[in-house]
Amino acid sequence: MDDSPQALDDTFYLPADRFFPSQGGVSLTYDDVSLATRYSEILPRETILDTRISDNLTLHLPVVSADMDTVTESRMAIALALNGGLGLIHYNMSPKQQLSEVSRVKNHVHGLIREPIKVAPGDLIGDVIAMVEEKKFAFRTFPVVGADGTLLGLLPGHCVRPRFAARAVSEAMVPRKDVLTVREDDLGGDPIARADAFFTENIGIHKLLVVDADDRLRGLFTLSDIERITQERSLQTKPARDSKFRLVCGAAVSPPRDPSGALDRAGLEAHVGALIERGLDVVAVSTAHGHTRSVGGAVRAIRDAFPGLTIIAGNVTSAGGVEFLAGCGASAVKVGQGPGSICTTRIVAGVGIPQLTALYVCSRAAARCGVTIIADGGITKSGDIVKALTLADAVICGSLLAGCPEAPGQIMEIGGKFYKQYRGMGSHAAMKAGSAARYGHEKATAQKSAAEGVEALKEVSPPAESVLAQLAGGLQSGMGYLGCPTLPELRANARYTRITPAGYRESAPHDVIEVKSSGQPG
Ligand code: XMP
Repeated sequence: MDDSPQALDDTFYLPADRFFPSQGGVSLTYDDVSLATRYSEILPRETILDTRISDNLTLHLPVVSADMDTVTESRMAIALALNGGLGLIHYNMSPKQQLSEVSRVKNHVHGLIREPIKVAPGDLIGDVIAMVEEKKFAFRTFPVVGADGTLLGLLPGHCVRPRFAARAVSEAMVPRKDVLTVREDDLGGDPIARADAFFTENIGIHKLLVVDADDRLRGLFTLSDIERITQERSLQTKPARDSKFRLVCGAAVSPPRDPSGALDRAGLEAHVGALIERGLDVVAVSTAHGHTRSVGGAVRAIRDAFPGLTIIAGNVTSAGGVEFLAGCGASAVKVGQGPGSICTTRIVAGVGIPQLTALYVCSRAAARCGVTIIADGGITKSGDIVKALTLADAVICGSLLAGCPEAPGQIMEIGGKFYKQYRGMGSHAAMKAGSAARYGHEKATAQKSAAEGVEALKEVSPPAESVLAQLAGGLQSGMGYLGCPTLPELRANARYTRITPAGYRESAPHDVIEVKSSGQPG
């Protein structure tokens, strides 16, 4: 055997096109493989995480939050986009509600408090003090507005004192003519920079009130928020924005049916059209089985009606499935059947492919068809993201984000620990709430259908921003080890080796008593 360094590496650490076909028909998932290190000239922090999902959509972080009713509504979608990724608003809600969730994301101005606490001119300062104490506000300066929302003045914090308790707000407020404001339509493309410049120009002013053309209060910026955001900006990945500087937003739809069971084309087009009017960037036709006539029909209908729209469609795990959805007009294809943490499709239906092999097969078909692929489900740690992105263009995370404060749902305490609900969209409860069509069932009979997901709990985790920072950091480390400054280079440079259960045990902390975890979410 040639024992040159090059030959040894080439024998044991194989590129995808040699590694996956050499597995003798065995399908593998993330924990079955490890990646080999490659010569590197870059540091993790020098890597760039930009990824192209379609001709119209580039993300700065290749992470998408799952279109699940315990993961993504507007709060999560805002957090994802602010950190460079994308949120897919779920569809277990009325079409009207989905429209307003999308509007919330598209109208979000980072740092602008849209509904500031206001006081009325006739309120007594004693009432204001009582409110501050009851609500435990850390601030004492309030805009003063009339009944129709018109700005009348500003109550300065130094007047909110017990000695003035019996005086009216109108006696203490700075009158409107002396309050500096900015018109909403003058905020421009970068409202944070506009507010930052205002605070620099106006020494001692800590609040910038935003008004509309009729002088009604539309929101406020505070100096401390703007200072925090501008500091974070230099550290963070860039937010994902559209050409009008709004945060990007996606929404999921399932193929709606008319009473005869046929695709309700008109209803689908009307809803997607309304979402686009609100500024939607991406629609995801999201089902458990995407290689079907109904999903193909829905994708075709959307593509015919909206030629320029980014369409994500799925899910599939075969090359044929990718080719089919690409032929129907999908821009990106979701790959994953049964890898999700709350999924029971493989148990219930006996169907599905371990995720890494599915990604390999689909990635090769996607390259031929000119579409991108998104790895959906089964991501439990940042190393899985590195492995997924050696084949895919982005990943979808459900479980890793379901414990964040931005995920819908209440926090519950059980045995001194705090949890949030996380449920599969194929669980009985979620299907009853609307997602039955995703699994090919009727909502009314969902209770009698075989569930393909479980209802579970996730321990409460830190805000999405810190979870995403951990994941991005792990991805950047992986790219550093492989000497890849960009994601296309990660796909080209990856070399795989299969590991055994003993190899996997060796990969995680072992033979120690762990006193502090690695900080990885999960
Ligand atoms: P993770 O592993 O991130 O997976 O929690 C999230 C993905 O799982 C899929 N999903 C389901 N799959 N039954 C399934 O077989 C279900 O009930 C279910 N709910 C969600 C979905 O693709 C999601 O993005």
